[in-house]
Amino acid sequence: MGKLATKPQDRARTRAHIQAGDRKVFIKTFGCQMNVYDSERMSEALSSEGYQETTVVDDADLVILNTCHIREKAAEKVYSDLGRIRQVKELRKSNGKRTIVTVAGCVAQAEGTEIVRRAPVVDLVVGPQSYHRLPKLLGAISAGARNLVETEFPDEEKFQYLPDRKDTVPLTTPKIVSAFLTIQEGCDKFCSFCVVPYTRGAEYSRPVADIAAELERLVARGVREVTLLGQNVNAYHGQDENGQPCSLAGLLRHLGKLPGIERLRYTTSHTNDMTEELIAVHRDEAKVMPYLHLPFQAGSDRILEAMNRKHTRKDYVHCVEKLRRACPDMALSTDIIVGFPGETQDDFEQTMSLVEEIVFAQAYSFKYSPRPGTPAASLPDQVPDDVKSQRLLRLQKVLSAQQLAFNRSCVGRVLPVLFERSGRRPGHIVGRSPYLQLVNVAAPETLLGGIYGVEIQDAGGNSLNGVMVDHA
Ligand code: 5AD
Ligand code: SF4
Repeated sequence: MGKLATKPQDRARTRAHIQAGDRKVFIKTFGCQMNVYDSERMSEALSSEGYQETTVVDDADLVILNTCHIREKAAEKVYSDLGRIRQVKELRKSNGKRTIVTVAGCVAQAEGTEIVRRAPVVDLVVGPQSYHRLPKLLGAISAGARNLVETEFPDEEKFQYLPDRKDTVPLTTPKIVSAFLTIQEGCDKFCSFCVVPYTRGAEYSRPVADIAAELERLVARGVREVTLLGQNVNAYHGQDENGQPCSLAGLLRHLGKLPGIERLRYTTSHTNDMTEELIAVHRDEAKVMPYLHLPFQAGSDRILEAMNRKHTRKDYVHCVEKLRRACPDMALSTDIIVGFPGETQDDFEQTMSLVEEIVFAQAYSFKYSPRPGTPAASLPDQVPDDVKSQRLLRLQKVLSAQQLAFNRSCVGRVLPVLFERSGRRPGHIVGRSPYLQLVNVAAPETLLGGIYGVEIQDAGGNSLNGVMVDHA
């Protein structure tokens, strides 16, 4: 029944072993990087309760599905997994073992009691703002409570109640070189297609001191690169040590001064919050990587307006021009939706032309998926699925070609690579370039955690190969 984690990306996300304990927890993470971060924090909170992480669902006393609600497909996957988990639970029960099944994340928040109605195997439904209450909720279930649903937005702030990340980890845990750190959560933008403002709630920014302390603990664990996370990360406005508001630019400058951290990234940004100050950070701060994920969603002003994006195509182009002036080698990534309600062929051609105009190093593109409760779901003129598929295919062809061209443009260059893990090929290690490309090199594992110059020799769509230049 280990089927639940058979895909490589699932295996990567189903992390193992944090601390020895007598009970086992299996966590499967769907969706965005913030969910990956949340799963890690839940695992840490549970390790203080004696739970050890396992990658084998059949061994788990506690199963957590950390879910994503952004598109319909992502949400439906959860229910098919729950069907398989029901069989595991029954089998374990026949062997006298109890299994607590928990649904966390954005499906939990959005669907609440509907989940236990559709899948009675679920013991606990817990929304993203209540993870710090997990030990207490599990205690209640162990004491006999059934089908608990906790989807309030509590008054207390979860980050203050989650245990601190430890600065030492057992020797069995692989060294993590690159980590996520949530600095901001929620969104006040209300794009008309998006569930995030409903599932993650209003914007909240963590105080600078808390973020710096968490970063210091990560650095003590061996982390050299951190990606600051937020649904609307560049709207960050946390309090600094003097109680004054601090922007993302200020935070990046502050974190860049902390010893041991070599690279800073942040995601996901909104065009309207890309301030002059933040753009200047890309010019001035060497630790801030020349790579930015900046969704534009659609190339037509008419659609951008219907999406309630609050910026025009021209605003986006102008923002990119300023970024490239400040940081000429800036590599851009984006999110694009095709088939938003009312999108005509002409609107779609404008998306295509914006892609041709900007030229992306990487991009994510999606068919519009109506999400219950969002304004766009009830708009007339929903685009037929076959039209969406055709548009997506055409778009993705161009995006893949751009990504390949960008990767090929790196051949012959020497790029600083931060090595993260051993490669699939024996004797190889894998790292990331400043532009977030995967780079494979034949080199010993002793170099993991270091940044070394690599001459790029060839490039595919998804990775680069190279040779070490400054290390024997
Ligand atoms: N349908 C399709 N794509 C969506 N996204 C968000 N909501 C939807 C939806 N309803 C995409 C956006 C966003 C990314 C995380 O997911 O492009 O930037
Ligand atoms: Fe969703 Fe991003 Fe728009 Fe916020 S800014 S509503 S997270 S797409």
